[in-house]
Amino acid sequence: MPLNKITILPGDGIGPEVIAQGLNVLEAIRLKYNHQWQVSEALIGATAIDQTGDPFPEASLAACQEADAILLGAIGDPKYDNDPSAKVRPEQGLLRMRKSLGLFANIRPVKIYADLIHLSVFKPEVLRDVDFVIYRELTGGIYFGEKVKEETWSSDLCLYHRYEIERITHLAFQQAMNRSKKVTLVDKANVLETSRLWRSVVQEISKDYPDVALDFLFIDNAAMQVILNPSRFDVVLCDNLFGDILSDEASVLAGSLGMLPSASKGEKSALYEPIHGSYPQAAGKDIANPLATILSVEMMLRDFGYIQEADDIINAVDSCIQEGYLTEDLKPAIARKCTEVGALVVSKING
Ligand code: IPM
Ligand code: MG
Repeated sequence: MPLNKITILPGDGIGPEVIAQGLNVLEAIRLKYNHQWQVSEALIGATAIDQTGDPFPEASLAACQEADAILLGAIGDPKYDNDPSAKVRPEQGLLRMRKSLGLFANIRPVKIYADLIHLSVFKPEVLRDVDFVIYRELTGGIYFGEKVKEETWSSDLCLYHRYEIERITHLAFQQAMNRSKKVTLVDKANVLETSRLWRSVVQEISKDYPDVALDFLFIDNAAMQVILNPSRFDVVLCDNLFGDILSDEASVLAGSLGMLPSASKGEKSALYEPIHGSYPQAAGKDIANPLATILSVEMMLRDFGYIQEADDIINAVDSCIQEGYLTEDLKPAIARKCTEVGALVVSKING
């Protein structure tokens, strides 16, 4: 699939700052390899509410539908978090975008860089051989079930259809075939009916992949295993809410939420974004870690078959890390700015 059009959604907080570095990297690659892709920008999140009243306006949806790939910064603003009565919220834009583009699979690789291990709160032996990927269902479950708000009670329905489980399960097993051939389904099947449906569907589908080992963990135990014995995981499959929680937790292994990229895929669209949020306290200070966004650009290029280009980005990021050229979230002896780290990655790409 060729990559012609890329739509950028910078969003809120540190979103525009990390996206700017991601775009510099993309432009460096474009010039180096003489590619022709077109990049255009659209609104999402609190920024979109401020400008249009809508967290994901029609024009943004159209721009995403036209694009081969979408690159998102982050969304969220404390002025909405602290106001439970707000009618319009930035997150609604993100969820509507995922749903309307049919982005049902959120893929979050957890990779540990050897040169960051000494900065980690974990013992080196815990981090040894950690390399897994979370497959999080993204357009169903409790995020999208019917919501009821009454005066003295509220409810959020968690609903899953078989087909919603089947399609992401196939992606997870296909990925496992190219990795260490192990899938772990994380659920709460001892309590939840939806989890029991997940178990039976996943068990059925696993028969199509006889080379892949399947095991199950309850979410509470999985949360513990992620920090006690993270090297046991290869492909982790979970529903929307469990995947959300587990992926933030897993990012601690990598040293910072600012290190992890992600891809969200559906029938047509593909979206790439750092897993971190909008980190409003850091907005405008040039201290955010741009590497998760830069690595999201890398994932995008690799998915579209630009392997050499993607390798260039990985190598540039690797040498940045080796040189200890890091933002303050990773607690290096000397903290670099977001723009400095981005510029170093670009200069490494240019050789
Ligand atoms: C994520 C985020 C979102 C989610 C929020 C911002 C709605 O935490 O992408 O993980 O919960 O899906
Ligand atoms: Mg999250």
